[in-house]
Order: sequence, then C-alpha cells, then structure tokens
Amino acid sequence: MFDKRKTLPIASDHGGYELKEFLKKNLIKEGYKIKDLGTYSTESVDYPDYIHPLAKLVNDGIYEMGIIICGSGNGAQMTANKYLKIRAALCWNKEQAYLCRLHNNANIISLPGRFIDFNNAFKIVNIFLTTKFEGGRHIKRVEKISRIK
Ligand code: RB5
Repeated sequence: MFDKRKTLPIASDHGGYELKEFLKKNLIKEGYKIKDLGTYSTESVDYPDYIHPLAKLVNDGIYEMGIIICGSGNGAQMTANKYLKIRAALCWNKEQAYLCRLHNNANIISLPGRFIDFNNAFKIVNIFLTTKFEGGRHIKRVEKISRIK
C-alpha cells in the first residue's frame, strides 16, 4: 500500500515513454507526487541507463516503490531485480498486480509499454499501489528470495 504523501518514481526507455507520460498525467490527477527519472522522448536509448537509477534509489530506501516501463517490460524488470532489496514484478493484468503485492511484497512494477492498453495499465498500477502485503506465511518466502546459497 503506497502512501500518497510520499513521492513515487517512474522511469522508462523509449519503448515505455508514451505509457510513462500517460501514467504520470493520470497519477498526478489522482493526487500522487511523481518523480520522473526519464527518458524524456521517444528517441532510442538503453533501458538500463534509466532503470538502474530508479532501482538504486528504491534499494537505498530513498523511495519506497517505483514504476518502470520498457517495450516488453522484461529488460526493465531484469535490470531492477539485480538489486538485493528490489522485488520487481512484470505485470500485464490486474491479477498479477494484486498477487505481486499480496504475496511477494513487490516494490517495483514493470510494465510492457508496447503490449498493454494504457487505460488498463493505469488500473493495474492503481491495484499495485493500493494492495497491502498479506504477510503471514509469505514473510519467510519473500525473505528467502535474496538468500543466495
Ligand atoms: C527496445 O526496443 C526494447 O528492446 C526495450 O524496450 C525492451 O523491450 C527490452 O526488454
């Protein structure tokens, strides 16, 4: 569950730029404070250059949650999940968004900018931001994710 008084960072590459702009506009309308970490046009860029900074800021506790977007959502998710405290979930429907919060306590949502309806993506993000981690039996499972043997 994201506290609207906090700032929510968003980042994308060119494949996610248009969805980023759409989400930013609509989230601001909903009362969210957004920090846009780029990219700032549809000019071709490398997604890690925009996703690493966001993931690092969330990993360091500067921001609690974040939104990342690339064409498929895969490259962005892979980049963010390099960080120990990041649990980035690739979501393309509402159920995925609900479950990644409820069971996995995901702190970043990754969206496929080229394969998702924008209005639907906004609904998916809203579910991601308003669903609380269930805790209980999922606590130890989530803790085990970053335990490398
Ligand atoms: C860019 O063309 C595309 O490869 C990128 O947005 C993303 O889908 C990578 O995973």
